[in-house]
Amino acid sequence: MPSLVHALARLRTLVRGRDVAVVALLYVLLVALGTWEGYAFTTTLPEAVSMPRQRLHNLLDGLLLHGRIAAKLVRERVYHVGDLGFPLVMHAVGWGVHACVLVFFLACRRGLVAWWTRRALGSEAAPQPEHVAAGAATVAMAQSTQTLAPLPRVVSRRRMLLDAGAGLTTLAGAGLAYDAFVYEPFAVRVARYTIAIKGLPKQLEGVRMVQLTDTHVGRRVPAVYVRQVAERAIGLRPDVVLLTGDYVHSGEGHVQASIASFAPVLGAKVPVVAVLGNHDFYGADKALRREFARYGVPLLENGRLFLDAATRTLLEVPAGPALCIAGLSDYTEDRIIPAKALAGVDEAMPRIVLCHNPDAAEDATLLATGLRIDLMLSGHTHGGQVRLPLLGTPIVPSKFGSKYAAGLVAGPAFPVLVCRGIGMSIIPVRWNVPPEILELTLVGA
Ligand SMILES: [Fe+2]
Repeated sequence: MPSLVHALARLRTLVRGRDVAVVALLYVLLVALGTWEGYAFTTTLPEAVSMPRQRLHNLLDGLLLHGRIAAKLVRERVYHVGDLGFPLVMHAVGWGVHACVLVFFLACRRGLVAWWTRRALGSEAAPQPEHVAAGAATVAMAQSTQTLAPLPRVVSRRRMLLDAGAGLTTLAGAGLAYDAFVYEPFAVRVARYTIAIKGLPKQLEGVRMVQLTDTHVGRRVPAVYVRQVAERAIGLRPDVVLLTGDYVHSGEGHVQASIASFAPVLGAKVPVVAVLGNHDFYGADKALRREFARYGVPLLENGRLFLDAATRTLLEVPAGPALCIAGLSDYTEDRIIPAKALAGVDEAMPRIVLCHNPDAAEDATLLATGLRIDLMLSGHTHGGQVRLPLLGTPIVPSKFGSKYAAGLVAGPAFPVLVCRGIGMSIIPVRWNVPPEILELTLVGA
């Protein structure tokens, strides 16, 4: 403990008043601008949020996540700060922490430069004794008063190396933040899979399905982005579009904007089916049922439809060879009833099952039914949103670790295809896990 106190006292001597004044001025400016931006964003209708605006907002939210947590704690436990108070607390705390880190860094830099200077003077320039003993403050003063001989070249070279290192680190950090919070979250790609299904009717050979999932329209994801994704999805000319949940982040406030953002798909006369995800049950399920009904999109809550092989249209009762498309409700926020979804379906008929949460593939009740399922299509895990070199995906919302993070996974009884999804949850970040539209081609086995 005494050494820590000594280190802090030593650090205190290295803090320059001018540095603190500049950082404080910067801090006040950033808090003012950030609070204004946060307030303006909160009071803007979700449909009116542009992509540049959303990118800026997500960048600030990502960089000031600690401030956001502090503002939430204040709102929930101390005082209900409103639309203006929340961003104020968030930016005050967030930038405050960053300002302290910056002052600390500047002090460390001064200390390091002084240490190097003492070493260089001692070993290479045969300095006067008082220079060595006096430490950093005296050395800096000596430079400014010019009463001493110029510092040896090696000192300025080391100082330059130190500053260059710090500059490069800052640039790398800024590049990383730009990629993770601004660019990659909206750099959607198409992931293509071809899956063989036993007993697939000949007329459905090569049938193409597009899955869109986890759009999470809300504070992190603007409706305008989902509309762009829907335009790209319909440009793939799918035979069927599958929507697998988490259309909004929470509440019914963004439901209309979210479903309306699928307009390019809904207006294309392509069969569309949907299931709900866990976030849809956070106060939005009733509104979503209403909206899907308004657009004529069948919502499969432990139900099924049949993709007719001859016409490639969806039927409630098969009229000939067909593919059964069943949908389960959400695994954690509602109840999956596979026996109801597939009740009475001919055992010889191939079937795919939509279920938001891939963990359902390991559900003991589902497995106990022994029902034939050829493929499950899921979302929910978002690929973990962040995949680190060597460490993999640190956070995956699944009971099975990263098994169901993304891609084609062998479940205990059938394969599960997990889409990384379109939007983001909780933290507005994606790194090394870009959002994706999943395109699935079925072929006969
Ligand atoms: Fe999700």
